[in-house]
Amino acid sequence: MQDVQEMKYLPSFGRKRARGLSETQKNNLVHLYETYGIEIPEKKIDPRTLFNIPFEKIFVEVGFGHGEHLIQNAMQNPKVGFIGCEPFENGVAATLKEIQDNNLQNVRIHKGDARLVLEKLQKNTIDRVYVLFPDPWHKKRHHKRRILSAEFIDNLRKNQVKELVVATDCKEYMESVLENMAQLKIPALDNIETLSQKPDWFLSTRYEQKALAKDDKCYYLKVELTVS
Ligand SMILES: C[S@@+](CC[C@H](N)C(=O)[O-])C[C@H]1O[C@@H](n2cnc3c(N)ncnc32)[C@H](O)[C@@H]1O
Repeated sequence: MQDVQEMKYLPSFGRKRARGLSETQKNNLVHLYETYGIEIPEKKIDPRTLFNIPFEKIFVEVGFGHGEHLIQNAMQNPKVGFIGCEPFENGVAATLKEIQDNNLQNVRIHKGDARLVLEKLQKNTIDRVYVLFPDPWHKKRHHKRRILSAEFIDNLRKNQVKELVVATDCKEYMESVLENMAQLKIPALDNIETLSQKPDWFLSTRYEQKALAKDDKCYYLKVELTVS
């Protein structure tokens, strides 16, 4: 069923599995997913209903990879409910284990395309969406696979998502995001070089570390999509 739903969007991700999953990983994907996983709801829902605790804010992380940022963020912000979406099963299995080991009550995971989850969350219920080091799809003919399209950003805005946080080491991708923002008349910074200063609030990600280890520049953007 989920695969049929995923065909709704051109995939913005690469492989769903790197190598054979160990028995423990397979087990986590079944048993820990029963506790922390979420399926695509049939109707639009208030994301607060996904948790056993009433949270003040809801943050969504699109493409959390192996979950380092998601887990750190959830540990540092126990009053925020986090929804992480990621189709890459090895990363999902590792993240589920971290959620359990740290007894985190404020994280829910969807093993699949974030766009299918976001479109089922009621208006004005999401405080922040993170898209960190999205697959760059360097070749021009693949640009249509980039998740941060004008349509994606516009859907967030229409759904009254308050803030969007983006980071990437692909300058041309960040430029395209700024162009999409300009097209949608969302005020964002127009001087890309100022975005290469790492903000002190930014928690690290695996792909950021890889880029910095190669001395590649990274770009960080936080934009208000709706003014409350
Ligand atoms: C380059 S990796 C970055 C992972 C992590 N954010 C980091 O910085 O270490 C991009 C990730 O986004 C995921 N991804 C791409 N499109 C997605 C989508 N539509 N929904 C959820 N995750 C997606 C990919 O599977 C991949 O794991």
